[in-house]
Amino acid sequence: MPLFDKEEKAFGLDISDTSLRLVQLEKKTKRTQVQLYNELTLPKDCIRSGEIIDSKTFSENFNKLVKTKLGHGTLSREVICSLPESKTFLKFIEFPACPEDQLKDKIQEILPQHLPMAIEDVYLDCQIMSQDAISIKVLVAASSKPIVDSYVKILDSTGFIPVTLELEAVAITRLIVENNNNLEPQIIIDIGANRTGIFLCDNGIIKFTIGLPISGNKINELIQKTLGLDLEKSEQAKIACGLDRNKCHGALEEIFSATVSELIASIEKVMAFYQNDFSNPSKIAKIVLCGGGANMLDLNSAIAKKLNLKVEISNPWKNIVNPNSSYFTPQKSQSFVTALGLGLRGIRPETFL
Ligand SMILES: Nc1ncnc2c1ncn2[C@@H]1O[C@H](COP(=O)(O)OP(=O)(O)OP(=O)(O)O)[C@@H](O)[C@H]1O
Ligand SMILES: [Mg+2]
Repeated sequence: MPLFDKEEKAFGLDISDTSLRLVQLEKKTKRTQVQLYNELTLPKDCIRSGEIIDSKTFSENFNKLVKTKLGHGTLSREVICSLPESKTFLKFIEFPACPEDQLKDKIQEILPQHLPMAIEDVYLDCQIMSQDAISIKVLVAASSKPIVDSYVKILDSTGFIPVTLELEAVAITRLIVENNNNLEPQIIIDIGANRTGIFLCDNGIIKFTIGLPISGNKINELIQKTLGLDLEKSEQAKIACGLDRNKCHGALEEIFSATVSELIASIEKVMAFYQNDFSNPSKIAKIVLCGGGANMLDLNSAIAKKLNLKVEISNPWKNIVNPNSSYFTPQKSQSFVTALGLGLRGIRPETFL
């Protein structure tokens, strides 16, 4: 199953440990419209760290997601599905030029030093981004074989055709990074319920991704432990107060400070890695936050202040019409960034990003 497959119209399916999201787009006149959409919360332990633990519950919930979809039109039989960040790897690799017929062997030879998992345990896909007499630049994607196989099997069993399995970072970049090759480097941070992904894009191309164990659920657990609230109240307190000193008498600021420091330290590591490991690095122009955690009050200003960088919250509706602003509120829209990016792939199959 190629990770960068080229297929016809399909809908996007974002699978997270705690939810399923569906988006099918259509191109009408000049604007891209949302045709079909839906979201469903999964029962606990149906999926753990991207691994489908309970196939029966997954299938039941997937069928419910499809049956209760909102919008208009017919759902495609073809699906473009996200792969969990923690079970994938993406890196832009540069190495000395070699004849085309030796390229595959060369990549196999140098990849193990970059890959965090064993090469025989992953499916690989590579795209040559540029090539001259001196060097070749290749974008390499790797995905855990057992995860890919299990996703294909389960989607097949529901009667849908998984035409492409895509890395979350690729889907997000397609949606929120301008499609032009004269862009300054930017760092994108997807803060979800279960994990956080950071990736660096330069000239609109992802250079590398890393995953962090920071998550919305972990923050809730921290609030629960420190303030003795149950998880539901912890979630409410997190949303109501965030890092805003003027809210809740700054009660959560201290609880969040370790998490925010960890996030900032990771961003600094990403910037240092880019400066030291890539040729001709430019200055990072901005950070873009997405995923539900991007909604945390004052998180963007806390990062901006500490790193002296512009920090934005993503705008998923830059090039797509929001079909229902009472459903897709600004907050909920952040959670749909991956699904919308997958949906875009469904109507723009010819482009990788
Ligand atoms: N206003 C807010 N302030 C703080 N956190 C928020 C806010 N709104 C949503 N969140 C958090 O965002 C998280 C959900 O993000 P998202 O929907 O992107 O996750 P997911 O895609 O389901 O999970 P993952 O990508 O981690 O597998 C939850 O932990 C939720 O508490
Ligand atoms: Mg997510």
